[in-house]
This record gives sequence, structure tokens and C-alpha cells, in this order.
Amino acid sequence: MEVIELTETGYSKKVLEHFMNPKNVGAIENPDGYGKVGNPVCGDLMEMFIKVKDDTITEIKFKTFGCGSAIATSSMVTEMAKGMHVDDALKITRNDVADELDGLPPKKMHCSNLAADALHAAIKDYKAKKTGKK
Ligand code: FES
Repeated sequence: MEVIELTETGYSKKVLEHFMNPKNVGAIENPDGYGKVGNPVCGDLMEMFIKVKDDTITEIKFKTFGCGSAIATSSMVTEMAKGMHVDDALKITRNDVADELDGLPPKKMHCSNLAADALHAAIKDYKAKKTGKK
């Protein structure tokens, strides 16, 4: 049987590392912010949980029913957002996440939407709770 090098599939080494060994997988009990988004392109789902202290993200976890790229991008976005002020984390775009991973194959860019959108949804939930709108 021929063994295919995974990097020959068009994925960067960083994507493969985060896919094989994702960081911050799971859920947080009583999160300060929670976001759940679906990907309109493929129908996959992503959930993001955050704990916040003094408007800084202290803990973050994700659960996804997405593909390998969704796992890698969520793992990366959680690593990027941890320790960030919520307003700065709101500015993280799917392109930032893809860049941190040294790129994604073009047909997989939609997958990185899930990670960034779920993070933004969790932060908006946190802000809504804080201002008493929830
Ligand atoms: Fe659905 Fe990648 S194919 S998130």
C-alpha cells in the first residue's frame, strides 16, 4: 500500500499539527460567553466557550462536528484568543487564523469561518450578559 505524505494533500505542517493534537478541546461549565454557529457551506457545527476576567479571556474551549480544517482552525483560534482582551479577540478574522496556520487550501477557507465566527459569537454573548441584555 502506498503511503501518502499528509503534507502532500496541500495542508501546512501547522494545520496537521493542530489537527492531530488539537488544543483546548472540550466544554466549560458555566461559561461567561458561549457561541454556537453552523457553517452554511457544509452544515458543520462549532461551539465555543469562554471564561473572562477583567474583559480578558482567561479560558477557552471548543467542540466541533467539523472537518480536520475546522478542528485545526479552532485549535489555533483558541490559542490566539487566550489571554487577549475581548475587544482585540473580536477583531481576529478567518484570514488571521489561516495565516497563523501558514495557509489553508482555498476550498477549505470556509472552514475557518466556523472558528472565528464561534469565537465572535461567544464574545458577543459575554458582552450581552455583562450589559444585562441577556
Ligand atoms: Fe465543514 Fe470544513 S467541511 S467545517
